[in-house]
This record gives sequence, structure tokens and C-alpha cells, in this order.
Amino acid sequence: MAAGAETAFDLVILGGGSGGYACALRAAQLGLAVALVEKSKLGGTCLHQGCIPTKALLHAAEVADAARDSERFGVRTTFESVDMGGVNAYKDGVVARLYKGLQGLVSSRNIDYVEGEGRLVAADTVEVDGRRLTGRHLVLATGSVARSLPGLEITGRIMTSEQALSLDTVPPRVVVLGGGVIGVEFASVFRSFGSEVTIVEALPRLVAAEDEAVSKQLERTFRKRKIALRTGAAFAGASQDGDVVTVQLEGGDTLEADLLLVAVGRGPVTDGLGYAEAGIRLDRGFVPTDERLRTNVEGVYAVGDIVPGLQLAHRGFAQGIFVAEDIAGLDPAPIDETGIPRVTYCDPEIASVGLTESQAREKFGEIETYEYNLGGNGKSQILQTQGFVKLVREKHGPVVGVHMIGARMGEQVGEAQLIYNWEALPTDVASLVHAHPTQNEALGEAHLALAGKPLHAHA
Ligand code: NAI
Repeated sequence: MAAGAETAFDLVILGGGSGGYACALRAAQLGLAVALVEKSKLGGTCLHQGCIPTKALLHAAEVADAARDSERFGVRTTFESVDMGGVNAYKDGVVARLYKGLQGLVSSRNIDYVEGEGRLVAADTVEVDGRRLTGRHLVLATGSVARSLPGLEITGRIMTSEQALSLDTVPPRVVVLGGGVIGVEFASVFRSFGSEVTIVEALPRLVAAEDEAVSKQLERTFRKRKIALRTGAAFAGASQDGDVVTVQLEGGDTLEADLLLVAVGRGPVTDGLGYAEAGIRLDRGFVPTDERLRTNVEGVYAVGDIVPGLQLAHRGFAQGIFVAEDIAGLDPAPIDETGIPRVTYCDPEIASVGLTESQAREKFGEIETYEYNLGGNGKSQILQTQGFVKLVREKHGPVVGVHMIGARMGEQVGEAQLIYNWEALPTDVASLVHAHPTQNEALGEAHLALAGKPLHAHA
């Protein structure tokens, strides 16, 4: 194709991460002419620097813990060490396989996949290496990057999750700055790999977006795991001297570490891409949309992490599919952000959907809650894990929040999201039979109790 030549599409998607490629796949399925532009690797952060590689590290961490603690189960093993070369080979193997599968999927559909850095040159045109792609619709899906703090340079032993994904040795001492999702997941991995870990969090509790009871249980378990917690601690600065990073906190305390992991949030990638010049309204770098994911410019949509809200791959998938269907005229129902399930894969795992207790109280005034302790759940006892399933319901109404913590509880979020999204009453769920012995049963038991007929529970 000659430089400057124009090709016309029904939609041109900028960014091939979760939101962008889901949109391309669905649009192609619906018979639309699609161009998908990606400057790096198809699959984006989720596949290459986020969800998939980090969960592989967390699984390796679980294996290390199982080896170290096997005597609890009467099995004698000797835990030797964590070989990061081996861990990385396993993790990279998982990513490579999925990447190949995804490339195959996209190339087997009728999608014009364009490799290169795209930029908006008009509200209906993306330019990539001199080639102009014009769309009846544009979909902005350029994702996010790890943030740092003013004056805190990401270099050497001060890193974000991106660099921390491929360490070749286990750092003996780690300070994690930020006790949000990335912070607690990496703290969990490092601790299982044998590091001494301290989490520094400005807010009064870890995972502050979760229900307070969940934060409390996580903090209790992390302390048992000997992860040091400095919550309510203001970060004042960090310096590197040779192999040592020194972290200063306000008030004068200092912490020494071999690695400082900065996990203070992720910011949108929207700078220098021609968005503002094309008239697209930005809010602190994010692209605000209406509930149909339309920007303020006619024909331009946005999906994924650049849209304010939860920065989750499955939200990106759902938004991408939504936009493709909207463009195809299928009139899909808008996505309820509160109904998007959330899982944090630290040990213990956290899974939730819907409103926290305090959000529900604010919204409905009168609510009821019930906490089912995993102490009464056979499978959780077999796994030797502690935690709970907490339900929040509107008084006399449906369940509006499900909050779970405990080993492997992330796998229970599927039923939890059906309960929330189908506005189930406790009695609706109580009448369904949950298999015994499973951790899933804990969800059933919690609903039995909230429906006034507890089985393996005291209240
Ligand atoms: P986050 O917003 O979850 O947490 C950042 C934390 O850093 C907050 O608790 C904040 O209070 C703290 N913080 C900010 N400035 C600070 C300071 N100066 N000193 C001390 N603490 C400070 O962001 P995070 O963990 O970086 O994750 C980014 C995004 O990626 C999130 O939206 C998350 O949902 C997503 N993600 C999701 C995962 C999952 O679904 N399992 C896994 C990893 C990331």
C-alpha cells in the first residue's frame, strides 16, 4: 500500500489489548469491516505484563508454599529454593501459548491487523506508518501503564510490576509501595518465594476498594504470613545506593530493601495520540464516555482502561463486545459496572461483586449482612484455609454484594456474579443445591443462613 493511501472500514480500533481485540473479534463475527492497530504485541497488558504472567507467578508461589508446608498434611518434602529461571520459563511458556492462540484467532477472522504505532489524524482516521485507515467509527483502546509518584524515578532497583515480572533472582528484602491489587498480589508472591516483605500504604487499610471486613481478614492473614504492614503511612521518598534502596516515610522512619516495587495505580495511555486534537474530551488523561461507551465526538468510542472505572481485562472484553454490537445495530444493554466480578489473586484470594456493606448502607439505608465463616466449610478445612463469605442484601430485598476471602475463593465469583446480576433473593439461592464438599457450598450455606435456615452455621 502506497504511503498516504486510504483504506475505509466500518470500524478502526486503536489498541490490540483485551478491549480492542474483543471488539475486533465480535465486529468481524458480525460481518463488519475491521482494522485493528497494535504497536506492540496483540493481547496487550493482560496477556504480556498483567493478568496472565502475574497469575503464573502466583501459582508458582502456591507450589512453593505447598512444598514448604507439606508436613501440615503429613507429607514430608524438603523445600530447597525457588529457581527464577525455571519460574520464568514456565510463566513465559504459558504466555507464549496463549499469544500464539490469540494470533491464530485474529488471523482466522476477517480482520485487517495492522502492526505499528497509530495516531488519530482526524476524528475518523488513524494513521499508521503513513497508511491512513478511515472508519465510519473509531474505537480507542490504548490501555494503561504503571504510574509512579512525582520525583520517584523507575530505574534500577526501583521498579513497577512490569520489570518485577522477570526478575532473575529472588530479592531478600522487598518494600511494596501501595497496598492495592498489584501491591498485595506481588507481596504475596515475594513472601512465598522467601523474601522479607513490607507493604507501605497511604490509606488506613489494604485493598481499600474492598469491603472493610475483607481488608481486616487479609491484614490478619498477611501478618500471620509475616508480611509487615505499614498502613496509613505517607511515603516521603526513596534513594538507591549500590544494591540498596532506602525508603523514607513521613515521620522519619526509613526502610531498607533490595527492591522497591511501586504499585500506586495505573494511568491511561492517551498522550500524543492525537485524541485532544481530534476534539476528544479528556479528563486527567482518561476518556470519559456515556453508558454506551461513546465519547463526546460522534462516531468515536472508547473501551478498556482509558475509560474511567475498573481497570480489569474482563471489563475490557465486555466493553469491546458491547461496542461492536452497538455499531452493528444490535442495541445491547449497557454494562452495569457494579456487576463486574473482581478477583485479587493473593493468598488468601479475594473475590467480590456488587456493593460493599458501607456502599449498600449509603444507597439503601436499611440493609442486612451475613458472614459465613469458612471454618464450617469442609473443603476449606481440608485445604486448611481461613476466611469467609459475606453477603449484603437490601432489607427484605435481593443480595446486592458478595465478598469472599480464602484460598481459591476466586473460583467462586462466577456464582456470586449471577446472584448479583440476577438480583437473587437469599431464598432463591437457598433453594439451589450446592455440591458437598466444595468451597462453593460456603456460598450456598451463607444464603441458607440469610434466608433464616442455617445448616452448618450457628446463626
Ligand atoms: P490500586 O489503585 O489498586 O492501588 C494503588 C494503591 O496505592 C492504593 O491503595 C493507594 O492508596 C496506594 N498509594 C497511592 N499513592 C501512595 C503513596 N504515595 N504512598 C503509599 N501508598 C500509595 O492500583 P494498582 O494496585 O497499582 O493496580 C492498578 C490497576 O490494575 C487496578 O485498577 C487493578 O484493578 C488492576 N489490576 C487488577 C488485578 C486483578 O484483577 N487481579 C491484578 C492487578 C492489577
